[in-house]
Amino acid sequence: MKRIKIEGGHILSGEVAISGAKNSAVALIPASILSDGIVRISNIPNISDIDALNEILNYLGAKVSRENDYMEIDASKIENKEIPENISKKLRASYYFMSALLGKYRKVEMYFPGGCSIGARPIDQTLKAFEILGAKVIENNNKFTITAEKLIGGNIYLDMPSVGATINAMLVAVKAEGTTMIENAAKEPEIVSVATFLNNMGAKITGAGTSSITIQGVQKLNGCFTEVIPDRIEAGTYLLAGALIGENLMITNMIPKHIEALTNKLKEMGYPLMIGSDFITISKIDHKKPVHIKTLGYPGFATDLQQPITVLLTQCDGESVLEETIYENRFQNVEHLNHMGANIQIKDRCIYIKGVTPLIGTEVEATDLRAGACMVLAALIANGTTTITSIEHVLRGYENIIEKLESVGAKIELEEI
Ligand code: EPU
Repeated sequence: MKRIKIEGGHILSGEVAISGAKNSAVALIPASILSDGIVRISNIPNISDIDALNEILNYLGAKVSRENDYMEIDASKIENKEIPENISKKLRASYYFMSALLGKYRKVEMYFPGGCSIGARPIDQTLKAFEILGAKVIENNNKFTITAEKLIGGNIYLDMPSVGATINAMLVAVKAEGTTMIENAAKEPEIVSVATFLNNMGAKITGAGTSSITIQGVQKLNGCFTEVIPDRIEAGTYLLAGALIGENLMITNMIPKHIEALTNKLKEMGYPLMIGSDFITISKIDHKKPVHIKTLGYPGFATDLQQPITVLLTQCDGESVLEETIYENRFQNVEHLNHMGANIQIKDRCIYIKGVTPLIGTEVEATDLRAGACMVLAALIANGTTTITSIEHVLRGYENIIEKLESVGAKIELEEI
């Protein structure tokens, strides 16, 4: 078990370079097994979610070499065998193997995926997409056996613009016969990165990044190279650190367009931002206006930044309101923020945050990945020292977070317990 200790109140200044996007890399790696050649991917973040996917690749017998942020995957001779529950439940993205194996071999056996416990997170839309393309799904005690004599393109209308279902539908449809349309598709940059990757292999996908994606199936996918896009949620998290306690904190190697919903809220609060083509510089300000925020699919305000921004809302003058529309249980950080001195009330899918409240260092828990990021941000501005337990959740998604924060002036320490 690991925990971190943070002494609050130290100004952050200098430069933080953003790593490759977790939620893109975790889809590209399973997608790579669709290729009959060698796939090369750079800018892969060094986080434990990638280690878990690597374990699945090794288990299936893929030849993998990984050095720093670079990975080479040769899945031309893998064995399509059942993926055991203890591996699949390590992360949500394990179910991208479900679609990639189904697309490649017309058969897959694996268990329900894992992921942060922030809501029920059913996979009905993914299973629906498989069935529309001709697969038969049998579920028994959390285990899915999915087979298809033939995969034939079809029209998939998603009930909600699900990131996972959009990616899974693409991963099967690229190897189906004929044309597939995905309507009400998710528009996140991670979807575009997966489509570009598959097109580099020889797939024929158009419309990724809009709500209507068209896929013309192909028989064979070749080797290719791609670079993981910068992590917009990591960039947003450090931007929030700068808003809380930065002096000319420069967030580099990022795509400002990807976090416009956040930068617009910061501007509403009163922050002057210096936005370049691939960086943003931010400093803390004294008086911040309260705001209303509603989480939405891209390009709306990202649910993954909802918990991190809550800390900043505790420092705005007056009442802010935050509505979470994506997940039904993504407020587990609130209890811990209140324990540090915040004044936040939960009513249904909204939280009401009354500021300004000073935060006091104490012991809190990282209940999930982004809740953990929220606690780290709170600790950076708290009076005294904060101990954050269950920090493994944070290490799943933020590369070198300790080193990055230390390098810009934070007093932070990782402890094994
Ligand atoms: N949903 C269903 N049925 C489905 C699919 C989704 O009801 O078949 C619901 C979910 O329960 C949720 C909503 O639709 O309420 C959106 O879910 P979505 O499928 O878009 O999420 P996801 O693919 O499981 C990815 C990210 C999440 C991020 C969401 C939303 C990965 C591995 N995970 O999850 O990232 O919050 O999209 O943008 O890409 C994180 O990084 O902390 C994280 C949770």
